[in-house]
Amino acid sequence: MNTNRLSKTITAALNVQMTKEAHAAQIYLSYAAWADKQGFSGTANFLFKHAHEERNHMMKILEYILKRGAEVVVTAVPAPLKNPTSIHDCFKNVFEQEVENTKAIYKVVKMSKEEEDWATWNFMQWFVQEQVEEETLSMNLLNKIKIAGGEKINGDALYSFDKDMGKDAGEVIPAQDVTTVNP
Ligand code: FEO
Repeated sequence: MNTNRLSKTITAALNVQMTKEAHAAQIYLSYAAWADKQGFSGTANFLFKHAHEERNHMMKILEYILKRGAEVVVTAVPAPLKNPTSIHDCFKNVFEQEVENTKAIYKVVKMSKEEEDWATWNFMQWFVQEQVEEETLSMNLLNKIKIAGGEKINGDALYSFDKDMGKDAGEVIPAQDVTTVNP
């Protein structure tokens, strides 16, 4: 008896989305390292936290595929985007990346609807909601930077923006304390 509860097309789409989440994690990770190198430690910790969240999203999809009796295919992850040129560029790219991810998620939702795979449709609603939150968050940060001058943001405004970002980092381990055993 076939115990696989996902179609071939849905399995393939979920595996693609799983890799996209891993790619998003790599982007946040490389941006975090960039920010830390520039001395923006608050921003770096915020971005490190998001790298971790994206990895959790990847795991969430992986676990769902396995739970439904289908096959997980772990593939190479594309290289992250090149380093941003400024804080404004950083959050502009973060916002655009989130919008692209939303579009990819909508494709899986559409596919699950067409196949009447209501379990996958229901599973994907968590991601739909998550994207609303992530888009709003990155949009708000980008707006803050725009109000402070965008590319022309001055040192004082940049300092207080970065300080605020540090406050939002929550449980994130400061970048300098991260090790391979305590990622
Ligand atoms: Fe997993 Fe930022 O989307």
